Amino acid sequence: MNTEILPASDAEERRHAVAESVRLLREGAVVALPTETVYGLAADALNTSAVLKIFDAKERPRFDPLIVHLPNAGWLDRVASISDAQEETVAALAKRFWPGPLTLILNRQQIVPDIVTAGLETVAVRVSAHPLFGEVISDFGGPIAAPSANRFGRLSPTAAEHVASELRGRIPLIVDGGATTHGLESTIVTVKGGAIEILRPGPVTAEQLAQFGNVRVAAPSGRVQSPGQLPSHYAPRTRLVLVKDISAFAGERERCGLLAWDRVPPGEQFGETRVMSASGDLSEAAANLFRYLRELDRCGLDLIVASAVPDNGIGKAIMDRLRRASA
Ligand code: TXA
Ligand code: MG
Repeated sequence: MNTEILPASDAEERRHAVAESVRLLREGAVVALPTETVYGLAADALNTSAVLKIFDAKERPRFDPLIVHLPNAGWLDRVASISDAQEETVAALAKRFWPGPLTLILNRQQIVPDIVTAGLETVAVRVSAHPLFGEVISDFGGPIAAPSANRFGRLSPTAAEHVASELRGRIPLIVDGGATTHGLESTIVTVKGGAIEILRPGPVTAEQLAQFGNVRVAAPSGRVQSPGQLPSHYAPRTRLVLVKDISAFAGERERCGLLAWDRVPPGEQFGETRVMSASGDLSEAAANLFRYLRELDRCGLDLIVASAVPDNGIGKAIMDRLRRASA
C-alpha cells in the first residue's frame, strides 16, 4: 500500500488534509492524525471492519481495547452509560479537561462494537484538543477509535516521521501536523463515586485531578486492567537503564547514550547525549521524551542511560514511561 503524507501547514493544505481524512474514514480506511498528546491511528469507531484495520496495521493483540474519541462531550451518553454515583464527578472532569488529554473509562453502551472494547463492558473515551483532529472528527460527525500510531509495544509517535517509520506501507494516509504538544499519551482514569483512580499517568496530573475527588494511583502490580499498564510497554529497542545519579553509573560511557534531565554533570562524556529540558521544565521534557528516545535508539548504542526527573506533576508520567522502557 502506498502511504501518502499530507502537510497541513497553511489553510489550503489543511482543508485538503481534513477532506482526505474524512473521505478515507467514511470509506472504512485508517488514517494517522496528530492529537495534542501523540499521533493516533484513526478509524470509524462504529465500523468493526474499519477498526480491525487498526489492529492489523499496528500488529496489536485483539485483547487490547482502543480509546474512542468523541466529536464533543455531548456524545458521551451515546457511547457510555454513567451511573448516578459517577455523574457529578464525570461531568466536572469533562467540563474542566475536555477537549484535552484526559481519558475516562466508563461503562459502555451497546452501540460500541466489541472489537473496540476487546469485549470489556467498559469503554475508554476522550475529546482531543488538537484543532486538526477536531476538524476531522466534527466533519466526520461520529466517534473515532484511535490508539497511538505505533506498532504494538513501541514508543508512541510524537511527529509524522515517527508514524512513517513504523507504519509506512501499511496505511493510506498520514497527516503531518508537526510535533505534538504534550508528547505523552493522555491520562487514563476511572471514576468510582467521588474517587478518581489513575490507570495511566499523563499530561493531566494527579494534582489537577485532586480538585475533583480523592485520587488513587492504580497499583502497578496485581491484575492488569489495561495493557498500557504492562511494564514492557513504550520501549525503545536499545536496552535502557534508569538512574537517579548519572555519576553513579559504573559502566563504560562510549557505547552508551545519555538521556539527561536538565544537564550533563561536568566531566561526563557519553557516546550520544540528549538533555530533556535544559531549563528544568517538566512539560518541555515530556514533549521531548519520545523523540529523544527514538533518536538515541537509532544510534546503534549498547545501552541508553536515562536519568530520573522530579517525580511530581507531569514528571510522574515521564517516570512511568521511563520505568516501563527500562523493564
Ligand atoms: O493520548 C492518547 O491517549 C492517545 C491518543 C491517540 O488519543 N491514544 C493512546 O491509545 O495512547 P493507546 O491505545 O495507545 O492506549 C490506550 C490505553 C491502552 O493501554 C488500553 O489498554 C487502555 O487505554 N484502554 C482502552 N480501553 C480500556 C478499557 N475499557 N479499560 C481499561 N483500559 C483501557
Ligand atoms: Mg499506545
